[in-house]
Amino acid sequence: MKSLRELFEIAVKDALVAAFGDELAATDPLVAATNNPKFGDYQSNVALSLPKKLKQSPRAIAEKIIANLPANDTWETPEIAGPGFINFTVKPTYLAGLLTEIQGDRNLGIEKVEPASKIVVDFSSPNIAKEMHVGHLRSTIIGDCIARILEFRGYDVLRLNHIGDWGTQFGMLIAYLREAYPEALTTADALDIGDLVSLYKKAKIRFDEDVEFKETARNEVVNLQAGAEDSRHAWGLLCEQSRREFQVIYDLLDINLTERGESFYNPFLPDVLAKLDEQGLLEEDAGAKCVFLEGFTNKDGDPLPLIVQKTDGGFNYATTDLAAINYRVAEDHADKIIYVTDSGQGNHFAGVFQVAKKSGLLPENVEAIHVPFGLVLGEDGKRLKTRSGETIKLKSLLDEAIVQARQDIEARLEEEERSETTEFIDRVAQIVGISAVKYADLSQNRTTDYKFSFQKMLALKGNTAPYLLYAYVRPQGISRKGNIDFTKLESAEIVLSEEAELILAKHILQLSEVLQEVEQELLPNRLCQYLFELSQKFNQFYDRCGILNAAEPQRTSRLILADLTARTLKLGLSLLGIPVLERM
Ligand code: ARG
Repeated sequence: MKSLRELFEIAVKDALVAAFGDELAATDPLVAATNNPKFGDYQSNVALSLPKKLKQSPRAIAEKIIANLPANDTWETPEIAGPGFINFTVKPTYLAGLLTEIQGDRNLGIEKVEPASKIVVDFSSPNIAKEMHVGHLRSTIIGDCIARILEFRGYDVLRLNHIGDWGTQFGMLIAYLREAYPEALTTADALDIGDLVSLYKKAKIRFDEDVEFKETARNEVVNLQAGAEDSRHAWGLLCEQSRREFQVIYDLLDINLTERGESFYNPFLPDVLAKLDEQGLLEEDAGAKCVFLEGFTNKDGDPLPLIVQKTDGGFNYATTDLAAINYRVAEDHADKIIYVTDSGQGNHFAGVFQVAKKSGLLPENVEAIHVPFGLVLGEDGKRLKTRSGETIKLKSLLDEAIVQARQDIEARLEEEERSETTEFIDRVAQIVGISAVKYADLSQNRTTDYKFSFQKMLALKGNTAPYLLYAYVRPQGISRKGNIDFTKLESAEIVLSEEAELILAKHILQLSEVLQEVEQELLPNRLCQYLFELSQKFNQFYDRCGILNAAEPQRTSRLILADLTARTLKLGLSLLGIPVLERM
């Protein structure tokens, strides 16, 4: 189904061509939904962009466009406002028809893309033997949401977990464990991630202080690279240990990912260097092999290098990313590769993409996009830390969200003198707590830093998960109270006469436009804002228009609106990775 915006875009374009000829066929009709009913539902600003070209006043152009619009049942006579804006208002009967159309469609009229191109979404990507931190949490939540939206639209999405499971740190860690904790290298489950992280820190201290130890660690890397069995085995155990810990978080958040860590690309690194060399891009700088970047300079204005092989022969994070690009293009046949990491890695990706393009690893028809996000801050506005200044463990953070959600529910039940089973309370607390964390993150423009506050994210009012979850519960309550099976309302007529009905109807019909925008800009907060406004508009409709006690045909028509709102909320929330509750 075409969105309303597309409908007006086509109409304005056709009218432009009819009025001024074919050379205007490629003009952007500049149509946008208005946010003030005074200006109608959609507005085209195109007349204001053409006076120079057409040598006429914007108003005259607008008049000609309107004169060339076809007669139709879709919109009221358009109005010209101000210097030449064209305001369109959709006819209620047309809106009603569209609602009936989406009512019978499981996907609410959202079309699938064709052809289904392949998109790699590289997200989450924590590091072995290190704690998964709030930055990884953001990447996980945002990446999952982007993947869900693209999947829903029909793209062939590959969700990749590019975990940091390779590099010199493993030599250091294995060497240290050999002396301090040998059983960890032979027995599964001998350590938990907390130990592993503190051992990692100790190993690093030894490495920095003790020359002999440094040498042992180096040899250990060589052994590992050469595939020595006991080193490989030890490395495997360490990865397994971390992986299990990561999985706890993924299960809590309901995240699916295919792990393809840095180690996977290890065998392909020499090929990357060969390719760079073949293209004449490789240079030597103080013993290291590198490619000099265009547009990146140091303080003195000298070009910055992307180092691909260190003086000791070791490869870098960037080298692995170049190999990963090659693999994703050549083997996965990706049309687009999306990387979700903190904005601190912006230069890294800009450099890697530049070198990948120059060397031909990344062909022109494949798009690589870095999707950056800001920091997670505490309520004090500083980086989120525990009271004693340590990094916060994700598991405890998520557990705390559930505990606090539970407290809120219990308080509410007491207030309402309602009693519910422990099972019910547990389930609601779990969903509300986790959803609140996800929604708090997604509802912010990802490029800005965001303040983490349990109190704010769990509030029942405002742009929060609990508010939206409640908006979904309301129609379900109506259906229970009126003993109504929403699925049986199908063929009834929809009548839109009250303003609150019209406002809600138009909003419901804008989901497809919003999803298109999110898909282009990769900004999940747009979808959150849409769902928040939908909830507000539904609540206004609910307060102003009687539903169960209305006379027919209003009653059924309003029930359909309530059901469509609920289905839109459910779908939208599912794209954010948030399940709904029938009662809460
Ligand atoms: N492991 C990295 C980190 O913790 C993120 C990896 C992102 N993906 C990539 N292909 N570089 O910062």
